Amino acid sequence: MFEVHVPATSANLGPGFDCLGLAIDLYLKVKAELSDSDHFYYSGTGKVADTPDNLIHQGFRTAFSSLKKVAPKVSFWVDNPIPLARGLGSSSAALVAGIALADAFMGQPLGREGIFQLSAQLEGHPDNVAPAIFGGFTASVYDGKCYLCEALELPSDWQLLFGIPAFELLTSEARNALPNHYDRADVIFNTSRAALWSLAVIKNKPELLRLASQDRVHEPYREPLVPKLAQTKAKLLEQGAYAAFLSGAGPTLGVICPEDMIRMCSELLSDFVAEGYVLRAKASAGYTLNLPVQG
Ligand code: HSE
Repeated sequence: MFEVHVPATSANLGPGFDCLGLAIDLYLKVKAELSDSDHFYYSGTGKVADTPDNLIHQGFRTAFSSLKKVAPKVSFWVDNPIPLARGLGSSSAALVAGIALADAFMGQPLGREGIFQLSAQLEGHPDNVAPAIFGGFTASVYDGKCYLCEALELPSDWQLLFGIPAFELLTSEARNALPNHYDRADVIFNTSRAALWSLAVIKNKPELLRLASQDRVHEPYREPLVPKLAQTKAKLLEQGAYAAFLSGAGPTLGVICPEDMIRMCSELLSDFVAEGYVLRAKASAGYTLNLPVQG
């Protein structure tokens, strides 16, 4: 039996649409054992049908077929605290888990790099799978054939909060809200800020994030889908948060703040999420694989 732990992730981080991401310490845990037929035992947040149509089985089968092998039947035991369809990378974590477990059963021919290529292809954009695999703060690029990712550790004293509303927002719906073309000024606005984000991490200057986390490519178009997003972001920044951004496609609102602002920011996020909840998190390493476990 193999077991994999895959972190939740926050993508975009404001201006880094489909590029920047961050791994956080909330883990999808999956145990896998070869069996006579496919089984899926799910516990955790939300509901996932107990059939082999889930993303973990899909990732598992795709990893085998990518190497022209027939996937064996497999049983998965899943413990998932990552909220579904909230912008915290639950689908990426599931794909990475399935592919990493397949890789383990095959003797690891893919490795982290191969798992990244395959999961980014399946997901269609690399910004969630990259931190789930490599950990920390990641920047990813597609060159038309392959994906490239560079990762940095996030400074350990940066405080992360996520306001997770009770409602789901499908990534497909949130992507459909975006325009097909952008003004040059908006492109310059975003590229300059995405570049500054990386320098804020490298130089451990969280105060740069007030500018570096601004976005004109996706958040303004998604605001109508997420009640109170714009007002809450404005209040958080007014009160002294370093950054407030839509996590992935939303509806979760991510915040980076000084330690003495945690209580104030949590209160503002509690109001934003209504029936949802506020998560305090730390940056995480990429997925870990345990080989093999008993029982
Ligand atoms: N970059 C993606 C988006 C992340 O914002 O649509 C969600 O999968």
